[in-house]
Amino acid sequence: MIELEIYDVSLENLRDIARIIANNLNGYRFIFLNGNLGTGKTTFVKYFCENFGIKPEDVSSPTFTVVNVYSDLKTIYHIDLYRLNDIEELFYVLEGQLEDEEGIFLIEWSNIFPEYFTEKGIEIELKHKSNDKRDLIIKVPEENQKLINELRRCKNGRKSETKI
Ligand SMILES: Nc1ncnc2c1ncn2[C@@H]1O[C@H](COP(=O)(O)OP(=O)(O)OP(=O)(O)O)[C@@H](O)[C@H]1O
Ligand SMILES: [Mg+2]
Repeated sequence: MIELEIYDVSLENLRDIARIIANNLNGYRFIFLNGNLGTGKTTFVKYFCENFGIKPEDVSSPTFTVVNVYSDLKTIYHIDLYRLNDIEELFYVLEGQLEDEEGIFLIEWSNIFPEYFTEKGIEIELKHKSNDKRDLIIKVPEENQKLINELRRCKNGRKSETKI
């Protein structure tokens, strides 16, 4: 995996980053979103979904529903594990949809149940920096070189990179 850290990400930068990731999935179906409350996981999902014809106002936090499904150019499963006590509940609600090879799964708080999400994906950790800025750590499988290059080139200024 290549770990890219992108510093001082504004809302506008986050929107660009979401667009770049949405356009360069290259077959990866899972995006793991972690970071404290209010760091922007759901905001990322809104920006991501725009790229598949889904209106931002149709995207809402699935904190209580566990899964929201949005469907336009792609079917997107928006999952939030924060309030989930029992992972079986998720599999019950998903009714086998994890087998949807065409679907995209965005999972907030995946780090609560790490052992259940073993398929390789793109991991994003958001860290609160100031009221309107976040630091992002994005882990991308090395095979997805195109995404790595696009993120390297993205408008946002200060970045660092590590191979892990
Ligand atoms: N640079 C930024 N990146 C992301 N969010 C930002 C930024 N600046 C301000 N915000 C604001 O921070 C809030 C982030 O809320 P959001 O619901 O997306 O967080 P979350 O990580 O999904 O929280 P939760 O863990 O409760 O689900 C939004 O109101 C958003 O507008
Ligand atoms: Mg959220």
